[in-house]
Amino acid sequence: MRRFPAQFADLLMPRGRRFAGPPADPFFADARLIAPTKAKAAFALLERSLGPVVKPMERAIPPESIAGQTRNYQERLPKTVRVSTADIDAARTKAASVAGEIGLTAMLRSESYMEFAAKLAGRALDPAFGRQVLRYGPGDYAGPHTDHHPEEPRAKGGYFDLHLMFARDVARQLLVYAKDGHLTETVDISAPGTVTAYRLPFWHYTTPLEARGGRAARWVVLGTFLYA
Ligand SMILES: [Fe+2]
Repeated sequence: MRRFPAQFADLLMPRGRRFAGPPADPFFADARLIAPTKAKAAFALLERSLGPVVKPMERAIPPESIAGQTRNYQERLPKTVRVSTADIDAARTKAASVAGEIGLTAMLRSESYMEFAAKLAGRALDPAFGRQVLRYGPGDYAGPHTDHHPEEPRAKGGYFDLHLMFARDVARQLLVYAKDGHLTETVDISAPGTVTAYRLPFWHYTTPLEARGGRAARWVVLGTFLYA
């Protein structure tokens, strides 16, 4: 694959194209919507084109979260993360120009992508939405967080994320999310091609990527949508 298909639907298997939605749960994951051969090709394309462009992002546990703690059981953990990322929307950046060259931007603007997102969201979405890519290497993870944005008027009542995941040689990586007030739900997101969708906010985290070999990685192509 030298470019992503012009229509997102061309990445999908027939059952992916027939997908009606919306899922009942706020979190949805399905590893049988994207065609496996296309998922592998998409991984290779992202790895060789955007692999050299993404930048590491790291927010470690603040030492004060222990050293500054004065009362028992009063610990507070901000969002911790280690991943590589690129904002493919930002004007005149290398990441945006590469995303254009490999057809990723066009595919994310395709009619079938918007239709698929709206089916998963279960309601109409604002056609102007945010795009980003993440690359998880061995040991990369995201700690517990909510993705709640109460300071943003249009997002404070909730918003919607659609993630296209393309992985290679990942033995295991779990998305853990809360149900009925407990972080009990787990989904393995190590398959070559997985679609996940989030009606945010809710508590969730991603466990460290466990590699099956030295070339293990997982790419995430994110679309972040406000409701129309
Ligand atoms: Fe998140």
